[in-house]
Amino acid sequence: MSSVRPADQAFNREAIEAVLKRRFFYGPAFDIYGGVSGLYDYGPPGCALQANIVDTWRKHFVLEEDMLEVDTTMLTPHEVLKTSGHVDKFADWMCKDPATGEIFRADHLVEEVLESRLKGNLEARGLNIDAPKEDDKKRKKKVKEIKVVKLEDEVVEEYETILAKIDGYSGEELGEIIEKYNITNPGSGGKLHPPVAFNLMFETAIGPSGQLKGYLRPETAQGQFLNFSKLLDFNNLKMPFASASIGKSFRNEISPRSGLLRVREFLMAEIEHFVDPKDKRHKRFKEVSDLKLRFLPKDVQAAGKTDITEATIGDAVSSGMVDNETLGYFLGRVFLFLTKIGVNPERLRFRQHMANEMAHYAADCWDAELHSSYGWIECVGTADRSAYDLTVHAARTKEKLVVRETLEEPITVEAFEVDFDKKKFGPKFRKDAPKIENFLTTRNQCELENLGDELTKDGKIVVDIDGVEGKVEIDSSLISIEKKTKTEHIREYTPNVIEPSFGIGRILYCILEHSFWTRPEDSARGVLSFKPLVAPTKVLVVPLSSNEAFAPITQDVISSLRKLGISSKADDSSVSIGKRYSRNDELGTPFGVTIDFQTVKDGSITLRERDSTKQVRGSQKDVLAAIQAMVNGTSWEEGTKDLNVFEGQQE
Ligand code: ATP
Ligand code: GLY
Repeated sequence: MSSVRPADQAFNREAIEAVLKRRFFYGPAFDIYGGVSGLYDYGPPGCALQANIVDTWRKHFVLEEDMLEVDTTMLTPHEVLKTSGHVDKFADWMCKDPATGEIFRADHLVEEVLESRLKGNLEARGLNIDAPKEDDKKRKKKVKEIKVVKLEDEVVEEYETILAKIDGYSGEELGEIIEKYNITNPGSGGKLHPPVAFNLMFETAIGPSGQLKGYLRPETAQGQFLNFSKLLDFNNLKMPFASASIGKSFRNEISPRSGLLRVREFLMAEIEHFVDPKDKRHKRFKEVSDLKLRFLPKDVQAAGKTDITEATIGDAVSSGMVDNETLGYFLGRVFLFLTKIGVNPERLRFRQHMANEMAHYAADCWDAELHSSYGWIECVGTADRSAYDLTVHAARTKEKLVVRETLEEPITVEAFEVDFDKKKFGPKFRKDAPKIENFLTTRNQCELENLGDELTKDGKIVVDIDGVEGKVEIDSSLISIEKKTKTEHIREYTPNVIEPSFGIGRILYCILEHSFWTRPEDSARGVLSFKPLVAPTKVLVVPLSSNEAFAPITQDVISSLRKLGISSKADDSSVSIGKRYSRNDELGTPFGVTIDFQTVKDGSITLRERDSTKQVRGSQKDVLAAIQAMVNGTSWEEGTKDLNVFEGQQE
């Protein structure tokens, strides 16, 4: 089943927004102070939904794969994020309208304006845009906001090409597009300054002196990398292994507008899978290799297209489209997780990053994108971060972040090495000696070869060293650099990292949209068809009326459900049963139990299914057993096959 929404029913964002607001799934933070863009508070059903998604994530990944979960701090010192590259490179491009002071994220502005022009073109050609046909008034309003202008065919093609490549442009390229296609402030028509980089991290100072500069972390990953050696130790030095972390991250988004999809504080769940760079096979690859996914590879996007390639993960890896088994394995696991919690697989695609779009640390990256009324949005990024992070942190701290593996057969290796004449070297350079020694011992093989050649040719080397004043001259009486042959019993390597990174809020919002529909007989009756696994409340318990005889039975059903660990709510208000059910359909409660006069007589209760409104009847024990099975994934048909169909009162 891909969607419960009837095929002919258009999705109505206003209707779902009304439900989410009224039932307090989430709402703007600091609302009574006017709110702050990009900051939201979750209410009770939103919290429960999020907790269930996180719980499923933990079981699906951490438990199932024996990952090592850590909880690391959000406040991060400058030095760490300088080393990771975030201080210099974690930025988006923004454009300012000097007349109004408004600021736009450059790529989003280009996207919005070109998409709107394309819609205006469709309208001008008499083709309908995506506004619902039946609501002509609303449609006219929407069309009015979009300028109805006919575009030349070549221009349409150029726009489509730009949109397909939008994630890959540099600031300069975005500036050229803005200039060439006369993209201005959509509100005022004002000309914009060229794009400038804006770092997305929130800066702060740690401690009262203000001297220790820090940031709120933009990802949980760094905390996992910094603990690599402790985790490897904890794992009894066994490779490969994965760490995992769930926690808040912060990004000062330039113009957060699309509700939960782009916020400034969000819950991330991230996995860092550490793997031998020479062997990226995965021992459980077979379990996912036959899964068929919808891929959007980078070469298709580079050609200005968005055509989907459907392929099994096995074929995607063997053809080289997906770089390696471990990356492919995680794409499969991500797919299984997302569909398990209620993502519609037809609205899920895996888009590969184009070369110039990749984060500064990534070697290959595939985004699981979900489709919503805001378009396609990245919800899980799965990147091969190579050895980037461990290497830069090791170089900065001088802590070895490596795996040492005892070789079955010793190997002979040739490598350049520096030897010091310590008796002469120390007295010659005095306080600078440790810095110079450190410089020489941290050169790579290629650099050592060049320095060795220089030493042989000139009898000395001349180098610049951080923290040492002027040029440093080291002659051949102090050091030698030579190629040596050694027998090694240990192989030392820096692992590569495959990282699936989940934005829980984005996934949660897409599930809300994928689950929402209205009853065809009454468009005011919204339903959220959550999977029982993630539904905020699993069972609604409704006594037929406020008759005293029902109260103890209601209590008994509730406490029996509680004992089974199944969340439930009683609704004994005086409104009709149908009304009570429909307001719980809005909360996505999958099952309803009704207690009536027959219950008082023989203990039987009615069980109702939210989407079909089908009802069955049986003893309390049998009904609760059926609920328990269905909450754990059994279908309605299977779970209720031994109960009697019920066609009585109630709706
Ligand atoms: P985008 O290009 O949409 O800004 P991104 O490429 O910056 O996203 P990543 O850096 O890959 O996103 O972040 C990993 C995950 O964190 C994303 O897949 C997404 O689910 C989530 N995420 C990132 N930024 C936000 C945000 N501002 N609000 C909510 N979730 C976010
Ligand atoms: N850790 C993934 C990201 O922040 O993009």
